[in-house]
Amino acid sequence: MCGIIGIISRNNQNIVPNIIDSLEKLEYRGYDSAGIAVINNNGKILRERAVGKLNNLKNKISLNPINGTIGIGHTRWATHGKPTEENAHPMMSTNIALVHNGIIENYEQIKNNLIAQGYKFTSQTDTEAVVLYLQSEIDKGVSPREAFRNMLQIVEGTYAFVAIFDLMPNILFCAKNKSPMAIGFGQNMCVGSDASSISGSCDEIVYLDDGDYAEISKDNVEFFNLDFYSIQKEKIKVTDDLVNCGKGNYEHYMFKEIMEQPSAIRKTIQANTISFNFFDDISRILILACGTSYHAGMVARYWFERYLNIPTNVEIASEYRYRSPIIEDNTLLIAITQSGETIDTLEAIEYIKEHNHTCKVLAIANVKNSAISRVADFVFYTEAGIEIGVASTKAFTSQLTVLAMLAFCKHQYLLDNLRNLPTICEGVLCLEDKIYNLAQNIQNAMSVIYLGRDNLYPIALEGALKLKEISYIHAEGFAAGEMKHGPIALINDEMPVLCLCPSGRMFSKMFSNIQVAQARGQNIVVFTDDKGALLFDCNTVVLPDICEELAPILYSIPLQLLAYRVTVLRGEDVDKPRNLAKSVTVE
Ligand code: M6R
Repeated sequence: MCGIIGIISRNNQNIVPNIIDSLEKLEYRGYDSAGIAVINNNGKILRERAVGKLNNLKNKISLNPINGTIGIGHTRWATHGKPTEENAHPMMSTNIALVHNGIIENYEQIKNNLIAQGYKFTSQTDTEAVVLYLQSEIDKGVSPREAFRNMLQIVEGTYAFVAIFDLMPNILFCAKNKSPMAIGFGQNMCVGSDASSISGSCDEIVYLDDGDYAEISKDNVEFFNLDFYSIQKEKIKVTDDLVNCGKGNYEHYMFKEIMEQPSAIRKTIQANTISFNFFDDISRILILACGTSYHAGMVARYWFERYLNIPTNVEIASEYRYRSPIIEDNTLLIAITQSGETIDTLEAIEYIKEHNHTCKVLAIANVKNSAISRVADFVFYTEAGIEIGVASTKAFTSQLTVLAMLAFCKHQYLLDNLRNLPTICEGVLCLEDKIYNLAQNIQNAMSVIYLGRDNLYPIALEGALKLKEISYIHAEGFAAGEMKHGPIALINDEMPVLCLCPSGRMFSKMFSNIQVAQARGQNIVVFTDDKGALLFDCNTVVLPDICEELAPILYSIPLQLLAYRVTVLRGEDVDKPRNLAKSVTVE
């Protein structure tokens, strides 16, 4: 979390507008505060910072412009210290400005040493300890290069750093451990938290690996490893999928991304081929993921056990390695992730690789060349394109598409059904009016219940997550059969209960659960198909007929639309919900 950027102009232009452009693309990583520091023509470091979204910083800079041909920028997701201006990056001291993404675990120790030497701290951040350590080295007469290298020897934790020193005003100093960082070559020399943020002015990119350190100048980049030996890195061409094309005619990224789902699913099917024998040597599957990606994994468990006949577990990645798990030989680990950066998922993979060398890792990722896709043995990419809205939508249904292709690799009739799915999804996107009415019904609710069974139980969880993360209405998903074991006590006439009930194997069981809910509350809404709708005497949302195994993909879409509409009606910021960030790179 947190987005960092560093830019050097190659033709002596002011780079502040470019830094702002890049910060706009990085805002999905956090928006508690933003800041920029540049070295001006007189070799002086100038800085501007503002609390809240990037617009506040832009307003400040328009009133009080700063200029420079080399500079750094930051958009913050607060970890240490409240989202105040003092805690906003860049952190600065007399000769240095630095931006940081990550957490310095031994900062207290570094800070106490510096305080004992007389250094004064002005923020509550871990990062300021790094900056004042660098300053203490400079004050001893150490060169910026040596100071930066000495700092890398003492810091513990996760980081992507970019620093500027007024004593070496033509160099960006960068280093990475666990937090992502890419360096770009083009009309400007750039470094950023992701490829998209630097793709605007770069044609080629190098991804830094953990332990890498780089010095970027106007004409060159020098790469070093942990021992500071010079190393070579592979350059990758910038491709269209790295470029964020903006919101187009849509008011919000989330709505655009919901609407892009038929095409995302279609492209995902076209881009991936899974052989009939893919699972031949696999005796067990373990799925690890977080949040929405975890819900995709939960759906996949139903599919894998039913159609591959392979025992499958699905686990929350952030919990996995803390409970001494038993990892059987020949387990296939499937890591599901949109960003490819989620540190909980990355650490869980590393744990498994350390503890059982027979396990292979398959990543299902949306971001090409992301950290998780680089540590995996195989990758299947979802072709959802860049997803900017913090609430994951098209990445989720594309993940389900890859998982369905895996699960159904020996069942041609299901694969044929999957190929028709994008067209059927287009039909659901036309339900906007119906969804709008429903959104009006629940926009003032205190809480909402989502019910599903079998492979739609995870979709009930996902529907509830979508609603709560952007509208701030409390919502819970339940397995409908579990209601009678406790949660049914919550149902009264005011409580909206949204039930997922397509025709199929689970219909009659789910129908009975809905009757029980209807006997206790008045605000029951059933998402079903034509056949099902004939049997319900309550509010229904009628979806196109779908092969029941693919219902999780189709039934996700109206729930996304509903969360979106409710949030717009409540006047909340759909794409940047409070306290959240798109990539979660802290544990
Ligand atoms: O990038 P990942 O798929 O690994 O991210 C996992 C979760 O952080 C993510 O799905 C999160 O739950 C979203 N905000 C859900 O909309």
